[in-house]
Amino acid sequence: MTEQVRPATMEKIAALSKRRGIVFPGSDIYGGLANTWDYGPLGAEIKRNIKNLWWETFVHRRRNVVGLDAGILMHPRVWEASGHVQNFNDPLVDCRTCKARFRADHLIEERLGQQVEGKSPAEMSAIIQQAGLKCPNCGNATLTEARQFNMMFRTTIGPVAETGSEVFLRPETAQAMFVQYKNVLATGRVKLPFGIAQIGKAFRNEITPGNFIFRQLEFEQMEIEYFVKPDGGSVAFDEWLDAMRGWLRLIGVRDEFVRVREHERDELSHYSSRTVDFEYRFPGPMGWRELYGLANRTDFDLRQHQEFSGEDLTYFDQAENRRYLPHVVEPTFGVDRTILVALVDAYDEEETTDVNGKPDTRILLRLSPRIAPYKAAVLPLMKKPELAGVARALFDRLQEEINALIEYDETGNIGKRYRRQDEIGTPFCFTVDYESLDDQSVTVRHRDDMRQERIAIADVPAWLVERIK
Ligand code: GAP
Repeated sequence: MTEQVRPATMEKIAALSKRRGIVFPGSDIYGGLANTWDYGPLGAEIKRNIKNLWWETFVHRRRNVVGLDAGILMHPRVWEASGHVQNFNDPLVDCRTCKARFRADHLIEERLGQQVEGKSPAEMSAIIQQAGLKCPNCGNATLTEARQFNMMFRTTIGPVAETGSEVFLRPETAQAMFVQYKNVLATGRVKLPFGIAQIGKAFRNEITPGNFIFRQLEFEQMEIEYFVKPDGGSVAFDEWLDAMRGWLRLIGVRDEFVRVREHERDELSHYSSRTVDFEYRFPGPMGWRELYGLANRTDFDLRQHQEFSGEDLTYFDQAENRRYLPHVVEPTFGVDRTILVALVDAYDEEETTDVNGKPDTRILLRLSPRIAPYKAAVLPLMKKPELAGVARALFDRLQEEINALIEYDETGNIGKRYRRQDEIGTPFCFTVDYESLDDQSVTVRHRDDMRQERIAIADVPAWLVERIK
C-alpha cells in the first residue's frame, strides 16, 4: 500500500480509539492530563494479548530466558551507577514571553530538518540563534539558551517530604535485571548465554507533546537483558535483530513500513557500543519514528553496579575455568508503541454500500487474530428466543473451550453489527439464522474480505482455534 492510499491518520486512530473504548485521554472528566492515556475495555484486551504473546514468544519458548517482575522503586544508587542521574537528560529551551517549553533538538529537527543527536546544549543554542528560530507557540524570538533537564521523576519515601529519602520512578525496566542478575544466577539454574526478561511500567518526564500514545509520561516496556561471553556480543546482536523482525511479523505489522536504522557514533546512549532502532513509518508529518531498540550494552552496567555496590558480579565459566563480567545485548520493546503501530498498520477504509444500498465507508482494523480484542463474535440474526438458544449455546461452548474473549451481540440489524465488529478488529463473526435450527450450521463472516461460508456448529471451536493460534 502506498502512502497516498494508506487511509490511517493519527486523528482517525485517536477518534476510533475513543469511540470504541480502546484508549481514553487520562483524567478525561477533569480536562485530561497532558501525555497520559488510559486503556479502555478493548485496549486493555489488546495490551494483555500483546504482553502475553511476547512473554510466550521470548520467555516460555526460549529455554535460556527467565522472567523477572521487579519493583518500580529502586535504591537511588542504582541510578547513579547506571548513569541516569548524570546522563538521562533532554535539552530544553524556554520562551521568555509565553513561558512555553520545548525540546531544543526537536525544534531544530522540525524547523531546520537538521539531526542534532549528540550535540551539546551550547551547540544547539548556537544553531537556534544563528537560524533566528522563534517560539513555535507565540512567535517571539525570545527563546532561552538550551539547558539539560533530567527526565527522571522523583518522589520521597517517608511521611514528610523534607526528611524522607528521595527516590526515582524507574525510567527503564532494564536496571532491575542487572541488579538482580546475581540472585538469578544463584537460583535460576542458568548458564551463559542466558536472558532475563521483564514487562513493566517506566516513567519519564517528557516535555514534548506526544502524538497520541507514542510518547507518554508513564508507559510500559518489554525488555530482555541477554548475558553473553565478552566476545559474544556481535553474534547475539544479529540473532536478536532477526528475532525482533520475527516478532513484528508475528503481530502482523507489514515489512514495508518498518526499517532498521543504525545509530551514528555520537548518537549512542552512554552505555552502548552499538544500537539499532526499529523504526516505523507513521502516516502524515510523523513519518519514520523509533518503535523498538536493540543495543550492545557491553559490560557497562554490570561493571558500574559492581563498583557502586561493592558486590562481585563476575561469572565463573567452568568450561574455561575463568571469571569475567558478561556482556549484555538488550532488545527493548515499547508496549504502547506496539499497540499504536498495530492500530495504525491495521486501520483500513473501504468504499462499499450500506444495508440500503447507499454508498458507505467500511472502517476496519485488520488486526492479527493473535492480538485482536475479540477473537470472534456470535450473532443471532434476530433477537428471537429460538435463535438466541442456539447462539448462546455456541457462545458458552466457545467460552469454555477457547481461552480467549468472545463477543455476543444480539441488538440492531446484522449489517450494523458486522460493521461494529469490523471497527474493533474481530476477525470472524458466527451468525445463527433460521437455517441453523435445521442444518445445525452457522455462517462465518470474515472481517477482511466480508466472505461468508457455512460450517457445522460442532466444528466451530476447532475451526476457530486453528485460525487464532
Ligand atoms: N532500556 C533501554 C531503553 O529504555 P529506550 O530507547 O529509551 O531504551 C525503549 O526505550 C523503548 O521504550 C522505546 O523503543 C519505545 O518503544 C519505548 N519508549 C521510550 N520512551 C517512551 C515514551 N515516553 N512513551 C512511550 N514509549 C516509550
